[in-house]
Amino acid sequence: MTSKKVILTGDRPTGKLHLGHFVGSLQNRVKLQNEYEQFILIADLQALTDHAEEPELIRKNVLEVALDYLAVGIDPNISTICIQSEIPAISDLTMYYMNLVTMARLQRNPTVKDEMNQKGFGAEVPVGFLNYPVSQAADITAFKANLVPVGADQLPMIEQTNEIVRKFNRIYASNTLVECEALVSNTGRLPGIDGKAKMSKSLDNAIYLSDSPEIIEQKVMNMYTDPNHIHVGDPGKIEGNTVFAYLDIFDTDKAEIQSLKEQYTRGGLGDVVLKRRLNDILQTLLKPISEKREELAKEPDKVMAILKAGTEKARKVTNQTLIEVKSAMKLDYFD
Ligand code: TRP
Repeated sequence: MTSKKVILTGDRPTGKLHLGHFVGSLQNRVKLQNEYEQFILIADLQALTDHAEEPELIRKNVLEVALDYLAVGIDPNISTICIQSEIPAISDLTMYYMNLVTMARLQRNPTVKDEMNQKGFGAEVPVGFLNYPVSQAADITAFKANLVPVGADQLPMIEQTNEIVRKFNRIYASNTLVECEALVSNTGRLPGIDGKAKMSKSLDNAIYLSDSPEIIEQKVMNMYTDPNHIHVGDPGKIEGNTVFAYLDIFDTDKAEIQSLKEQYTRGGLGDVVLKRRLNDILQTLLKPISEKREELAKEPDKVMAILKAGTEKARKVTNQTLIEVKSAMKLDYFD
């Protein structure tokens, strides 16, 4: 038994991970793994809630996401990486929790609401999709997680999880389930290379951890800056300028950035100079990651063995929670 606090995080395996993931969560996980007992869930069941007709896509990306994890330095000897669909306790818990949540409550979840609008689901929303906050509550509680590192968009999931925990513990006179706390990352959100607020696969504006140096350079050189900054002598805008947004995050020489910003605002500093500077920084950052990733990708069996071992450990932990939950619910028939 460890006395370390438990962390649960996860990703839907719908695509390779990108620099936005790196800044927003992966970097943090590499740090947190030394201090906490960290479980990282590859949430394939959750991915299927809106990709039911693309099983190959999910299957393929389980491996891709695992490669991304290992390449950035998530250490499978310290963190436990596991596959959601191979952890039956999560599905069992989801089934029990569904009775504790109303349809109206799910429809009020702001993140679900936004996603339903984006996807244009309306009344034709798959039941599984509407229900994914309940399934996520099962993910979190199955591991008795104390902390859940998330982006701001996931806060409604934490809130719903804790509602379920309180309701469960009250109804079944139990103290089995543990309330969790969100650990919201304080790094700013990384915009897409097109200047849109978010880097995402669906917007096709991402730099992937697996991108080659040539592709990275190409993406940086095409980055959105200030559309009115046409000639080098023109005064330029910092606000909304993606290259500066990235430099703010990745360039450690803050004094130099400040002076470049002043020069850019006055006029006389070209975009290309800034883009070259950013490109150098990103190449240095991403080179060891993509090299390690390429090495690991040569041995997919090894990676799958890591996932299998992690999943087996996760099964043990979550089966124990399930035993306690079933006992609280008087479902412990054959013990
Ligand atoms: N919903 C999360 C996302 O879209 C992924 C996820 C699934 C998750 N289960 C989780 C995150 C449990 C934290 C804890 O990114």
